[in-house]
Amino acid sequence: MSLTNKKINASIIGASGYTGSEIARLLINHPFVSIEHITSESHAGKAFSDLHPPFVGILDLPLERAEEIDIDKQDVLFLALPHGVSMEYARQWQGRTKIIDLSGDFRLTGPVVYEHWYKKRHVYAGGFDHAVYGMPELHGNAIANADLVANPGCYPTASILGLAPALAGKLIQAHTIIIDAKSGTTGAGVKASETTHFSNVNENFRAYGIGNHRHTIEIEEQLGLFCEGNRCLVQFTPHLLPVDRGILVTTYAALSKDIPEDQVFEMYRKFYQDQPFIRIRKEAPSLKDVRGSNYCDIYLQVDDRTKRLIVVSAIDNLVKGAAGQAVHNMNIMLGLEQTLGLGQVPMKP
Ligand SMILES: NC(=O)c1ccc[n+]([C@@H]2O[C@H](COP(=O)([O-])OP(=O)(O)OC[C@H]3O[C@@H](n4cnc5c(N)ncnc54)[C@H](OP(=O)(O)O)[C@@H]3O)[C@@H](O)[C@H]2O)c1
Repeated sequence: MSLTNKKINASIIGASGYTGSEIARLLINHPFVSIEHITSESHAGKAFSDLHPPFVGILDLPLERAEEIDIDKQDVLFLALPHGVSMEYARQWQGRTKIIDLSGDFRLTGPVVYEHWYKKRHVYAGGFDHAVYGMPELHGNAIANADLVANPGCYPTASILGLAPALAGKLIQAHTIIIDAKSGTTGAGVKASETTHFSNVNENFRAYGIGNHRHTIEIEEQLGLFCEGNRCLVQFTPHLLPVDRGILVTTYAALSKDIPEDQVFEMYRKFYQDQPFIRIRKEAPSLKDVRGSNYCDIYLQVDDRTKRLIVVSAIDNLVKGAAGQAVHNMNIMLGLEQTLGLGQVPMKP
């Protein structure tokens, strides 16, 4: 059903955090959406703009508790909540309205694999029967018919988009993939921690989650869709950059055949020809080429010496890696033009 001739009621659950406020920033410029409710359990009663001063005079709505919202009057809900919390709300609300969950609670194939990687009991296993992995470039048709979308993780977004065409075209050997990923500190959420403390991040750079980061399995499951027996093993190492937003991923994989670089570019351009937010670049992208926008910029190089394909992809973790991808999913779920509300040109410098 197309809702373009009616106002779309949207509510953001968890609007005191980074991705929740970023969804608000994007929806403000959406021609059909009205932000009805924004919630916070710890700041309920305050104005949204008190917590987020850039919104003064733009969005001064009071923050409410999630339980106060009349869910049945909402056309779409964004759950911008930690994993483990989203599943509780999805259990109560699934089937009553369309839900886009930004957490990792429904991204994987089922509760067993979830519990193994997240070390947490899943309280709504039935949700996996409804959830669609919300990557528009790969699952657009399924998203259009979904009422529960699991918005992808930030690192998986840049990694999967960078590698899917190569695997689909049988260009690379799946078991040789190495993903070297770097993120700004907003990827860790709004709450301060020792890891994100200024003096631990500033003029510093480090790897973390080596060999066991949760995004590893998300990347493997999605890339597995392009591999024989759905099996793909990747070596994934994330790093923390001393910047606030942005993800840059460099991946390496052994080529499965000799192929000229221009043919690889052609293959990628064809794979993404109808996708408005993928830009195949002639030079390696930098974080500021995509900052504040919903673009994923991808660059390719064939190393004739090592016989490897090198892919560099860049996104803004809060936009393409979270809020922008969520709004893109909303547009598809509601039968709207995909790009509505997402026309931001990247901010450089
Ligand atoms: N940051 C990124 O770049 C990024 C990218 C992709 C996906 N994600 C995922 O998106 C989700 C949100 O991330 P974020 O960075 O926006 O996190 P965040 O900045 O820490 O915000 C989390 C929000 O959840 C709310 N919350 C926490 N515990 C709650 C509870 N028990 N009940 C209700 N609300 C609760 C908090 O609100 P109150 O404490 O005010 O109630 C806050 O508004 C996470 O699952 C994250 O993994 C994040």
